[in-house]
Amino acid sequence: MKIKKKIVLIGMMGSGKSTIGALLSKKMNMKFIDVDSKIETIEKQTISQIFKLKGEKYFRGIEVETILSMLNSKEKELVLSLGGGSFLDEKVRKNVKNNSLSFWLNWKPSTIIKRIRKSSKRPLIQGLNDQEIEKMMLERNKYYAKSNFKIDCENQKKNEIVDKIISIVKENEIKS
Ligand code: S3P
Repeated sequence: MKIKKKIVLIGMMGSGKSTIGALLSKKMNMKFIDVDSKIETIEKQTISQIFKLKGEKYFRGIEVETILSMLNSKEKELVLSLGGGSFLDEKVRKNVKNNSLSFWLNWKPSTIIKRIRKSSKRPLIQGLNDQEIEKMMLERNKYYAKSNFKIDCENQKKNEIVDKIISIVKENEIKS
C-alpha cells in the first residue's frame, strides 16, 4: 500500500509496539524500524547497558536524535515504534504530529504490569512496585493521548489490532 505519511506506534513499555509494528509493516509492505533496536545498533550496547553506563539523560538525547532523523527521512513507507518514554518530549510530539499518523496502543495498567514484570530488559522499572508503575503509566497516558488515534487493545488479538490500524490508515488516505 502506498501511503503519504509514516506510521508511528506509541505507548507504554510492554504495549506491543515492536510486535504490532513488525506485523503491521509486513501486512502493509512497509519498512519497519524499532527505535530501541536502532539505538542499540548505533550505540553497540543494549538499552540496559546504555542506562547503566551512560545514564538516562544520555539515552534520552540519543533517543530524540534518532527519532527526529527517522521522522524527517525521505522514506515514506515506514512504520516506527517508539520507546515508551520518548513521547514525553515536546520536540518528538511535534515532529510526530507533523510527519506521521500516530497510534497509541492502550491497555489497562494491570495488563502492562504483568507483561513488563516478565522481562528484565527495562531499566526504568527496576525497583518500582506495581503502584509506582501504575502511577507512571497514568501520568504518561496524558501525553500518549496527544497521538492521532487511541487503539484500545484489551481483549484484542494481535491481528485485530493490526487490522484496526490499517482500516484507520486507509480511511485517512481517502480523506487526504
Ligand atoms: C522506556 C521504554 C523502553 C526503552 C527504555 C525507556 C520508557 O522502550 O526505550 O527502556 O521510558 O518507557 P519500550 O517502550 O519499547 O519498552
